Amino acid sequence: MKSELYNQLVQEILSCRKCKLHRYRKKPVPGEGNLDAEIMLVGEAPGEKEDEQGRPFVGPAGQLLTRMLSELGVSRGEVYITNIVKCRPPGNRDPEPDEISSCLPYLVRQIEIIRPRLIVCLGRHSAREILKLAGYRESEVHQISKIRGKVLRVKILGLDIRVVPTYHPAAALYNPRLREYIREDLRRAFELLKGRDNDKSERTILDYL
Ligand code: URA
Repeated sequence: MKSELYNQLVQEILSCRKCKLHRYRKKPVPGEGNLDAEIMLVGEAPGEKEDEQGRPFVGPAGQLLTRMLSELGVSRGEVYITNIVKCRPPGNRDPEPDEISSCLPYLVRQIEIIRPRLIVCLGRHSAREILKLAGYRESEVHQISKIRGKVLRVKILGLDIRVVPTYHPAAALYNPRLREYIREDLRRAFELLKGRDNDKSERTILDYL
């Protein structure tokens, strides 16, 4: 049942023409991984390599992410990886608001199907959109440096989900200092689900602003 719903969704994404990005893409990038994953990683939009292969996070930023996951003993097949926007914006520009709003229903359905316990937001665009789905206003979430690594307990589509925002691995390609932060945030996210994180307090984003 889950896989039928998922396959149907993938087919829709593969033939999507809801926004102008379909004119420039080679391949849409729906996402991939374990449909029973407890952790979902959400990036921004496919880049050049992802557009060529139709797979998320396979270019340089993706290789860095994959390496960081494997350092934590986590394989890509254990998690589910996707993006806010499923087609590559030309020249890797930021996705535009109309593109995000056309594409977001796909992410909503992915969350409904997979029902993750925790979402790691890779980068500020992802954090903004995921936290908006959790009911926050855009003005409350724009500073990734203030909220990275925090565990935000939210409700998305009626599901209790913890959200851990972190920097985008592409930013860490050019700024090695950010790699340490991403590593730390990923470690925290995985330890939390294994019950090894000591911070059991309820937090909302307002506690951090
Ligand atoms: N950057 C993203 O945000 N997503 C990808 O899939 C690749 C690079």
